[in-house]
Amino acid sequence: MSSQSDSDSNKGRWSRFWRRPESKWLLGIPIGAWVMFWAGAASIVGSEIVMYETATEDFCASACHSMKTFTAPEWQDSVHFSNPSGVRALCADCHIPKVYPQKLWAKAYDGGRHIWGEMISVIDTQEKYDARRTYLADRVWKHMKATDSRECRNCHNDKYFELSGQDERAARAHHTGPQEGKTCIDCHKGIAHKTPDEVAEESAAR
Ligand code: HEC
Ligand code: HEC
Ligand code: HEC
Repeated sequence: MSSQSDSDSNKGRWSRFWRRPESKWLLGIPIGAWVMFWAGAASIVGSEIVMYETATEDFCASACHSMKTFTAPEWQDSVHFSNPSGVRALCADCHIPKVYPQKLWAKAYDGGRHIWGEMISVIDTQEKYDARRTYLADRVWKHMKATDSRECRNCHNDKYFELSGQDERAARAHHTGPQEGKTCIDCHKGIAHKTPDEVAEESAAR
């Protein structure tokens, strides 16, 4: 009996919910919810588009002068641009986290820094770029050290290394490296760019 009256009162509540509200302004609640829903959906889709567009090869390697002129050509000379497997590592694959919220932070904060740097021409000549390279590279190295080379592992998973297929030096390093607390970037600097040392050597040779 009591369950019967429970369901009656539930019905009552539902029919009251769907009934035309007595005062006109109450209509605003469902309309407001509807508008909010679509505004929310639009902003999620919109931000995904921005996320996507700002991580393409075109954008990162050409949106601003310094990346296009100094950074991209070095990457284009590297194994991460062209290799027998035909897998290309884009700027974003190594520099933008795939995990949230780190991805949003990287886009907002680093993106802002880059736009600012471009505006005030911090690295708009080869000389300025090279002078600042140690500082910039160091930031990336520290970041990669702190994340245990997280972005490298999007593609290279050392759990799946077939050590017997690697040359002896590599296999040994990959075996002992992790035991010594080393991460990819400790041993593999300059895999998409010239390192500051290489640049210094080149200019000394000139
Ligand atoms: C988008 C995927 C991707 C990401 C991210 C990536 N790599 Fe690679 N890496 C590759 C591919 C593909 C090759 C070439 C494999 C081949 O020989 O065909 C490669 C090659 C290499 C090699 C061999 C270099 C040589 O001269 O043969 C090293 C070392 C390496 N990567 C280290 C790294 C490190 C360190 C990171 C992080 C900073 C990284 N990779 C990030 C895909 C990636
Ligand atoms: C202790 C140093 C050390 C660490 C740590 C290390 N490597 Fe290596 N790796 C080497 C050496 C040495 C070689 C062989 C010479 C070379 O290619 O630089 C090598 C070679 C490679 C190659 C080419 C293998 C081949 O036979 O074609 C890839 C790819 C690579 N490493 C990726 C990584 C990735 C990804 C990580 C992190 C998960 C990593 N390495 C961590 C030292 C290290
Ligand atoms: C395979 C991973 C990888 C790819 C792809 C990659 N980078 Fe890097 N980037 C690094 C690493 C690692 C460093 C730290 C310096 C070093 O070891 O070369 C770095 C450093 C930099 C620096 C600091 C200056 C310097 O030369 O050290 C800039 C700017 C930069 N990257 C921008 C880019 C842009 C733009 C692209 C695409 C055109 C790109 N990177 C592609 C891994 C990568």
